[in-house]
Amino acid sequence: MNGNAGITALALVGMPGGGKSTVGRQLAKRLSWSFADSDALIEKRIGTSIRSFFEREGEKAFRELESSVVDELTLTTRLVIATGGGAVLKPENQQRLNTRCRVIYLHSSPEELYRRLRHDSSRPLLQVADPLAKLRELYQQRDPLYRRLAHFTVETGRPSVAALVNTVLMQLELAGEIDPTLTPSPVDPSPGAPER
Ligand code: S3P
Repeated sequence: MNGNAGITALALVGMPGGGKSTVGRQLAKRLSWSFADSDALIEKRIGTSIRSFFEREGEKAFRELESSVVDELTLTTRLVIATGGGAVLKPENQQRLNTRCRVIYLHSSPEELYRRLRHDSSRPLLQVADPLAKLRELYQQRDPLYRRLAHFTVETGRPSVAALVNTVLMQLELAGEIDPTLTPSPVDPSPGAPER
């Protein structure tokens, strides 16, 4: 018994810039689980950045690597996984994510994503003349996939990371997936406590 009722792994899906890694890391901390970022693991294995791998080997080669990493990670227990934004494109990944994990879709609008990513140079698909148009196109294609795949959808909007993490935990608790007593909210420092 791992103390967290039924689930053994959680996967965060959603568009690039939606906060999957940041939220995932905090979520793992609250659950006392491990955290894995699929892009970071791929980069470690290829020994270069995803952007230069895309340039050298192309998207198809990247998607194959991504599939094997998704396969491996979704078989790991007590793990929170931040997937890459395009991990939902391959049916085999969809199937593995949906059947092996509880999947959470962090939903953001293309405009919100653009606001966060407009200076980003690491995402190969967004190195184009009009990144907002590209985000809109990817969103059109992927939003239905994320929704179909996810067990829960959370609006990212403008809440803080802590608030998003609490929302995800609350949804899991309400669904009876985790035991609420195992994930107490971090206590706010008392008003007189010295700042650190
Ligand atoms: C991609 C998103 C990236 C990374 C790669 C492809 C995509 O991950 O996997 O650049 O197809 O949307 P993030 O969602 O973490 O940015």
